[in-house]
Parts: sequence; structure tokens; C-alpha cells
Amino acid sequence: MSEALARLTIECLGRRGEGISRGERGLVFVPYALAGETVLAEIEGERGRLVEIESPSPDRIDPYCPHFSVCGGCAVQALAPEAYARWKQDLVSVALRRAGIDAEVAPLVDAHGEGRRRATFHIRADASGRPVVGFMQARAHAIVAIAACPLLAPALAKAIATVGALATALGAGAKPLDALVTATESGLDIDLRGHGPLDPRQRQSLVRIGRDRDLARLSNHGEIVLVQREPLLAMGRASVVPPPGTFLQATAAGEERLAAEVCAALSGAGRIADLFAGIGTFALRLAAEARVHAVDCDAAALAALAKATHFPEAKPVTVETRDLFRRPLAREELDRFDGVVLDPPRAGAELQARALAASAVPLVVAVSCSAQSFARDAAILCAGGYEIGMVVPIDQFRHAPHVEIVATLRRPARKLRATRKLLG
Ligand SMILES: C[S@@+](CC[C@H](N)C(=O)[O-])C[C@H]1O[C@@H](n2cnc3c(N)ncnc32)[C@H](O)[C@@H]1O
Repeated sequence: MSEALARLTIECLGRRGEGISRGERGLVFVPYALAGETVLAEIEGERGRLVEIESPSPDRIDPYCPHFSVCGGCAVQALAPEAYARWKQDLVSVALRRAGIDAEVAPLVDAHGEGRRRATFHIRADASGRPVVGFMQARAHAIVAIAACPLLAPALAKAIATVGALATALGAGAKPLDALVTATESGLDIDLRGHGPLDPRQRQSLVRIGRDRDLARLSNHGEIVLVQREPLLAMGRASVVPPPGTFLQATAAGEERLAAEVCAALSGAGRIADLFAGIGTFALRLAAEARVHAVDCDAAALAALAKATHFPEAKPVTVETRDLFRRPLAREELDRFDGVVLDPPRAGAELQARALAASAVPLVVAVSCSAQSFARDAAILCAGGYEIGMVVPIDQFRHAPHVEIVATLRRPARKLRATRKLLG
């Protein structure tokens, strides 16, 4: 056995989906190895490259995508569904335990539905300078050419060919080009990034391809090139036209499930603040029953939200563009709400959680895409007197290490009275 080659026993799967071995060599992370397996791996520092599986896990199954282990999109595809669901549930339980939170974690909710409705394709040049469309390799800058990805919703089936045609028309390849493609109810919406300004001939070519391929909308760095139909997304009774490139939940099923949890928890609340509201995934549904104040730093997303609020029987919705990392809603601003939705990006919302912890808001529904920042922020809220209910992990990134989380944090009536008294 060469010096770098080692026999390792894999103890567990880590939070990036890599097998973790803890032995004489210290911690070694081996991508694509599973818990309980004995493997041969080539070691470099803390990383092991899987060379051979000497004794496979009983939970090992054949991955169904030919690109698995080369393409960086999926980290865990060779694990049987039950073990996979336990791993994702454990990612949340472990993060909560480490933050000192004692909460029940529900079994993983599968929210893959029809598949991802949005993907960023990368376009890079091959050796002869021709554009190649695909995803990036794991831990590398090289591209993996992809003809089809089994995780994408059927509505994205033609996306790769369309992106290829657009890239060829732009002569792309010299500079890295990315294409964010979203399947909307009125067709594909594509935003190109990395090319820079278009000259008139390039613009004409893109318009022709967009028409031929029946795109709903095509933009370049957020600047509209072609609109054949407004790209529409239904959010409850509302219909939103998302600005190019704005945040969107990865699967329609994931969005429905998260929204159902949020709306159920806030049922009966009269005034709600939706913090990190985006295009109104929650605000627009909540507005069927309650007055909503939606806050986000993305002014274009909030403008789209505001435009979508005019559906029958909608309650008033106000929007506020604000950087909640620098200027979280203060205690005095929060206290007029019966409930708050908190759905920050991966970094979490530490300062906003601190302000909430000092507030008298009776109910916070916390949504998150990071178990670590969720646990940290939930610990801040619990230290401020909130009690955390069941934590629900929702899987809209099948085979990736991400997991969506939703949980309700309530101030018990007794503590609420005490906080109110304290605050005068
Ligand atoms: C996870 S997304 C959630 C959006 C929305 N709740 C949804 O489900 O579609 C996080 C949102 O936080 C917003 N955001 C990121 N950083 C922010 C900041 N510093 N202040 C306010 N909003 C921010 C983004 O614009 C994005 O809309």
C-alpha cells in the first residue's frame, strides 16, 4: 500500500455529505464513502479520495445519475432512502444539540415534488474553444458537460439545449458565462451573467433564439432582452412576476410545504411582519388573512411583491427595503406585530434574533436553509424566553447536503406578561 493510501473505517456522514473517519490519522473526510464502510482512500491532509470500498454499507445503493461523483451537484446519491432521510434529520438534531437546544426534530419531509424548477448552468470553453454547458465539478473549477439532470423538473428539460444555443450565439467560452434558468407558469425565464454588455448583433441573435425557443423572458445581467410573456409564479391567490435573478425556493413542493407550515403557525394572527420576505412567498399567502409588513434588502423583489398584492380580499400589505443585518427591526417596531416570519439567507439573522429576543412578539416562525445558523438564532430566541416547538426538516435539495428547516417559537403567556411589564 503506498504511503498516501490508507484503509479507513467510516464513522458517520458529515454535514457536507462526506464520510468521516476518525483514526490514527485524525479526522479524514472521504466524499462518497458511507457510514460503516471500510474503504481504501488516498489521503491528502484531511481529505481522502475514495479508491475502493472494501466492505460496503448495507445502505449502499447504485446511484442513478451517470455524472454522480464527478458533477458537484449531488453529494449523497448512493444511500438508501431511509438512511438518507435519517442523515438529513440528524444534521438538524446535531446542530440543535450543539447550540444547547432541546427540541424534537420531525422526520424529514420529502419536498422534491416534480424536481428543481430553477438551476444555474455554467458555460465554459472546451480545449477547442467551443462552449460546454454543465455544472461545476465538486471541489474543482472544471466543468462537467451535462446533457440532462434527473433532479430537474420536466419543465427544465429543454433548458440545457437552449442555454447552449444562447452561449454559441454569444461566442461564449472565452469568459465564464452562467445562465440562471427558472421554470415559471408561463415558460422559461433565463438570466445570463458574466458576458457583460451586448452589442446590437448579439442582442438580435438572443432575441431570435428566445423567440424560436418560446422563452417567456430573457435577460442579461438583469437587463431585459426579450419578454414574450410575463414570467408568472403563483403564490397562494396572488401571481408574482419575479425580477430576473431574484431568490426563489428550489422546488414548487418545497415552497408549498414551507408556506403551509408558516400559514398554519400564524393562523389567527392579525398583524404579521415577514422579515427577509423576498418576492412574497409567505407574505402573499398570509395576506389572505392578515395585515402584513414585508421587509427585505432586495428592492426589486419587494416591488414585485407589492404589485402582486391586489388579489380579491387581500388584506393590506406594506413593504420596506431595509438591510436587516445592519438595521434589524428594533424592539419598539416589533411589538406591534402578533407574529413574525424570519427567513434569512444562510448566514442567519443574529442581530434580528437578538432584537426579537428582547421584544414582546408572541410568535416567531423561523425558516432557514442552514442548520447551524438556525440553531444559533433559535438559541438566542430561547434565551430570550421563547419556547421552541417541533422542528421540521424539509428536503427540497435531494442528494445535496442542504436542508430547509421550519419551526415555531412561542412566548408562553406567563413570560409574555412579564416581558410586557418589563417593557412598560
Ligand atoms: C432565503 S431567502 C427568503 C425569501 C422569501 N422568504 C422566500 O421564501 O422566497 C432570503 C432573503 O433574504 C434577503 N436578504 C439577504 N440579505 C439581507 C439583508 N442583509 N437584509 C434584508 N434582506 C436580506 C434576500 O434578498 C432574500 O430575499
